[in-house]
Amino acid sequence: MPHTALPATAAFQALLSHHAEVRDRHMRDLFAADPQRFDNMTVKAAGILLDYSKNRVDHTTLKLLFELARERGVERQRAAMFSGEKINFTEHRAVLHTALRAPRGQALIVDGQHVGEDVHAVLDRIHSFTERVRESQWLGLSGKPITDIVNIGIGGSHLGPQMACTALRTFAHPRLTMHFVSNVDGHDLHDVLQRVDVETTLFIVASKTFTTQETMMNAGSARDWFLQRAAAADLAKHFVAVSTNTEAVRAFGIDTDNMFPFWDWVGGRYSMWSSIGLSIALAIGFKNFSELLAGAHAMDKHFCEAPLERNMPIIQALIGIWNRNCFNSESLSIAPYHHDLRHFPAYLQQLEMESNGKRITRDGSAVGVATCPFIWGDVGTNGQHAFFQLLHQGTDITPIDFIAVLHATHDLPGHHAVLLANCFAQSEAFMRGKQAEEVRDDLKKLGVDDDEINFLLPHKTFNGNRPSNTLLLDALTPATLGALIALYEHKTFVQGTIWGINSFDQWGVELGKVLAKTIQSELAGEAVPARHDCSTNALIALAKKALSD
Ligand code: F6P
Repeated sequence: MPHTALPATAAFQALLSHHAEVRDRHMRDLFAADPQRFDNMTVKAAGILLDYSKNRVDHTTLKLLFELARERGVERQRAAMFSGEKINFTEHRAVLHTALRAPRGQALIVDGQHVGEDVHAVLDRIHSFTERVRESQWLGLSGKPITDIVNIGIGGSHLGPQMACTALRTFAHPRLTMHFVSNVDGHDLHDVLQRVDVETTLFIVASKTFTTQETMMNAGSARDWFLQRAAAADLAKHFVAVSTNTEAVRAFGIDTDNMFPFWDWVGGRYSMWSSIGLSIALAIGFKNFSELLAGAHAMDKHFCEAPLERNMPIIQALIGIWNRNCFNSESLSIAPYHHDLRHFPAYLQQLEMESNGKRITRDGSAVGVATCPFIWGDVGTNGQHAFFQLLHQGTDITPIDFIAVLHATHDLPGHHAVLLANCFAQSEAFMRGKQAEEVRDDLKKLGVDDDEINFLLPHKTFNGNRPSNTLLLDALTPATLGALIALYEHKTFVQGTIWGINSFDQWGVELGKVLAKTIQSELAGEAVPARHDCSTNALIALAKKALSD
């Protein structure tokens, strides 16, 4: 199907012309001109407030961005996704992670399957299994309750569960310790195996395909470790699987009664709502897991029903397009001001970069503009003492998403106010900067002489005008976390739609996997490989020697 590349659209050209007119304006002036700017540029949905006022946008910018969304068919594509059309066009698959969090009774049929019925049948199994483990009815080989749960998976089968279990640790069952093993580096599994007891540990092998090298190797080593300490007959009490691949689960030796399925219309990085979330449901209980799904569903409803001008994921996506494609921002920094959200930047890295790290549109032609920015970040206030210097005064302008939570779950006096003060101070500093005259006045008050002031002035001056969004959650609960994740999922989808790419495949990951298999066989073989470039050949030779020592 022919596709119009973004640069060829009238809406994008209008946006570029507008950008040329307004790009030098300072946000300080925009705030001074409109005392209602906060009210005009905030939107609330599903327990989240998005303040996008600290971006270099005005009323006209927003109008042009909404026109762009309309011209790029965002509403049409949104309807296509929710109704189960095969919008993952390179794999000919529907994209229905939203169906995983829809309430019971939703009538949606895809390829003759009642999606809602299938989803809730699996959720019912997750419910009963997690209750049994949590209530000490599911017992280990010697009759003791489970105390440790090891989720073995990588990418989407790891990042979501680990991020959510950490974010919601205050809701977790006190007897259950969660462990996450993802890396094929044996240090990862080895470290966990040293800390768990074979009699009371439950392994979850989580892999959509059940062929991923890292996961299968870790699962095999965990099974060997188990069988060195227990009988094969006990395996069923200690290993469960989450996958779409029943045959491979059976071949691995896991009873398919202990397998929690999902479907090929769930992308790996969108799968924490499916049985991939089993570890989350075990940790926080099924009721809280249902709240997580409900929070995401509330954001789905908002995304589907709110007008574009009040639609949080669409606004967030459009601000991102403005920064990326008009101001050429190469990266987006994620700054959660909540220690329990420390895995959120890594989660978003896969969500956004694996989804939108693409350069070809749906008709096979080049996108013609820059696509996904690099996503990176760390929790506040730690980041302030590491990389914020560059964000304030470096040569690149990097937009930032601040994520703050109004109510803490600890009762240590003073900490939370200091944390929030830092968060708001940073976004203010990025916006306002510090002008030369302000620096001069400050130094004068300190009694610094004029020569020294003139010397220091350029170093101590901040231009500001650096964009940020602030996302405010009332509290970090299963529901608000669900809504926050769904917000970013839909933002990613909207941006992919505007760029005209497929946000739901990931062909680029394949090349490294294939080459690793070749080198793996060379490391194991006798011959010194000579078919690579001289760097790769030499590195392989060095590793071969070390591995044989
Ligand atoms: O990194 C590539 C990828 O295919 C991801 O998309 C996916 O989340 C991850 O590998 C793990 O895949 P699986 O769940 O099939 O083991």
